[in-house]
Amino acid sequence: MEFIKYEVEGAVGVITIDRPKALNALNSAVLAELDATLDAVDLAAVRCLILTGSGEKSFVAGADIGEMSTLTKAEGEAFGKKGNDVFRKLETLPIPVIAAVNGFALGGGCEISMSCDIRICSDNAVFGQPEVGLGITPGFGGTQRLARLVGPGMAKQMIYTARNIKADEALRIGLVNAVYPLAELMPAAKKMAAGIAKNAPIAVRNCKKAINEGLEAGMDEAVVIEEKLFGDCFESYDQKEGMAAFLEKRKVEAFLNK
Ligand code: CAA
Repeated sequence: MEFIKYEVEGAVGVITIDRPKALNALNSAVLAELDATLDAVDLAAVRCLILTGSGEKSFVAGADIGEMSTLTKAEGEAFGKKGNDVFRKLETLPIPVIAAVNGFALGGGCEISMSCDIRICSDNAVFGQPEVGLGITPGFGGTQRLARLVGPGMAKQMIYTARNIKADEALRIGLVNAVYPLAELMPAAKKMAAGIAKNAPIAVRNCKKAINEGLEAGMDEAVVIEEKLFGDCFESYDQKEGMAAFLEKRKVEAFLNK
């Protein structure tokens, strides 16, 4: 891999987008490598992922403007699909993904962070959807996920004005969950990931599915989605161990992902 680094530490995988010359901008090659990396995650062993960018300045500065500059209508649509397909794979991965946003998260960078389950950022982070200033719409899910995350009014303001926001404002509008000094961002992400990884993996997976699929459904259908995923847990060894440990007033020996 030229542009993606993937390291596993215990049950936590760290994916780093590493294209420093272009502030980690997403071209077709980066997207293809990210897609292959997601396919290769060992879901039996890895229980949480962290996604970050290399360097101290940028998480992802967007889709590659050079590559997009000469696209035709059909090629533009295909490029949007390429990004959307990878981001959807990330969003629906059966394990949680934490975006550790370490600088610029513009356009496709903001969009990839929103495809993750949780966003935390460094105090130098900058978020924005600058596309209309380039003559395009957000194309990797920004019009959809930003509106769902921060509400349509704030999403429309950010997208129509193309104004970037700093970390404190991203925190205020709920785009990120927490802000850290840059040096503390990865330790905080790893601590959160380890906290997730120690819980029952089937239960965590079902929670992700219930939240994601429930948000797309009406409430009557959504609670049924939850009931089924709740019921599924009772077939797992981990439910038996988790509840037995509570009743026997002891610590869980181990969740075995079964
Ligand atoms: N695409 C391609 N190259 C990019 C890039 C991008 N999105 N962002 C930065 N780069 C490149 C720059 O061209 C520059 O390359 P050279 O050194 O070869 O000139 C290098 O990265 C460093 O960038 P700057 O010199 O501009 O660094 P800066 O500190 O002065 O500014 C910045 C940083 C504010 C992030 C600025 O680079 C910038 O505005 N980048 C573009 C951000 C943007 O508009 N992103 C949205 C893209 S559209 C999109 O993503 C569509 C979609 O939804 C799919």
